[in-house]
Amino acid sequence: MTTEMSSNEDIIGRQELDDLESILSVVGTDDADGRHVVHSNYDSIFTWDYEKGARPKLNKLYEKAKNAQWNGETDLPWDTDVDQEKLVAEAAAAQGGHAVGFDIVGTPLEKWGDNEWIELGVESQNWTLSQFLHGEQGALICTAKIVESVPWIDAKYYASTQVMDEARHVEVFAKYLDEKLSGHYPVNAHLRMLLDDIIADSRWDMTYLGMQIMIEGLALAAFGFMHSMTPDPLLKQLLRYVMADEARHVAFGVLSLQEYYQELNAAELRERQEFAFEAAVRMRDRFLQQEVWDRMGINPKEILPAVLSAPDRNQFQAVLFSKIVPNCRKLGLLDAADGWLRTKFTELGVIEFESAVDTSEEYDAMAAVPPTQRELV
Ligand SMILES: [Fe+2]
Ligand SMILES: [Fe+2]
Repeated sequence: MTTEMSSNEDIIGRQELDDLESILSVVGTDDADGRHVVHSNYDSIFTWDYEKGARPKLNKLYEKAKNAQWNGETDLPWDTDVDQEKLVAEAAAAQGGHAVGFDIVGTPLEKWGDNEWIELGVESQNWTLSQFLHGEQGALICTAKIVESVPWIDAKYYASTQVMDEARHVEVFAKYLDEKLSGHYPVNAHLRMLLDDIIADSRWDMTYLGMQIMIEGLALAAFGFMHSMTPDPLLKQLLRYVMADEARHVAFGVLSLQEYYQELNAAELRERQEFAFEAAVRMRDRFLQQEVWDRMGINPKEILPAVLSAPDRNQFQAVLFSKIVPNCRKLGLLDAADGWLRTKFTELGVIEFESAVDTSEEYDAMAAVPPTQRELV
C-alpha cells in the first residue's frame, strides 16, 4: 500500500488549523442573479435488480420513513408569537448575563450596552437559522443525486423519502425565518465550499460521506443543542420533527457506507478519511460566524481571539462532533490507513466522542409522532 501523503495545505488550504488570518480570508460572494450553479458530473445508474428488502436494514428504514412523514404547514403551531429580542434577553438572563465566559476587556465590545448585546443575539439567530436553511437545500440536492447514483434499489427507495424530508426542512426553516425572525444571511463561504465539493465529486459514496455522515451528523448535534436551549415552543417543535428525520438520514449513511467500504482498499479509504477531515474543518470554520461580526460593524479579527478563548467554546465545538466521530468509527474510518483520521480528529480536539452512541440505530429512540399521523392511527 502506498498512499501519497497529503498535507493540511493540500486538503484544507492552510497548514495550521487555527490560522485565523487564513480562515477569515475566505469570504462569501453575492450571487447577483440569486442563483449558484455547481457543475456535477456523475453516472446515473439503473438497476435491473428490483428485489425489495435485499438489504433488510435499508428496507426497514424505508418502511419507517413512509410512516414518519409530517406536514410542515399543518403540524406546527405557526400562530405562536415569537418576540426575538425578548427571547434573547431571557436566554442571556438565564445564563447570568450577556458576555458570560469570555473576556472582552480591550476589545470593541467593552463599551457595549444591553442593546448591542441583544442585537448580536438576534443577528446570531438570524445567521444560524439561515445557515440551517442553506444546508437543508444542500441536503435536498445531494439526496436527489443519491437517488440517481446509488446502485441499490433499497437505497434508491429510501433516498426518495429523504428528498421529501429535505424539501419539508427547507420549507419550514424558510417559513420560520420569513415569518418569525428578522433577516436572512447568504450562505457562509466555508459551508458553500463544502457543499460545492460534495456535489462536484462524481463518486456516489462521497455524497453520502459529505452529506449523511458529516453535514447531517453535525446538524443532528446542532439541532439538538438548539432544541435544548430555545425557549420558543414553535422552534422547539420544529426542531424536534426535523431531528427525528435527520436521525434516519444519518442512519441511512452509516448503513450504506458500512457495506460499501468493505470493498475498498487502504488507499481508497485514505481518500475518504481526507474528505471527512476536510469537511470537519470547513464546518468548524463556519461556526466562527464571521458575517455576524461584519454586520455588527466589528472587525472579526479584533474579536475572534477572545471568542475562541472562552472556556466553554471548545466544549461547544466539540459537542457538534459528538455524532460524527462515533459514526466515522463505526465505518472503520478512524483506524483505516494507519489511523490517519484518528490523529486528525485528535488534533481537532474531538476524538473524545469516539465511543459515544453511533447513529445507525438511534432513529427509533428519536422518532416523533406528528399530529397528522396521530389522527391516522
Ligand atoms: Fe434536513
Ligand atoms: Fe437530512
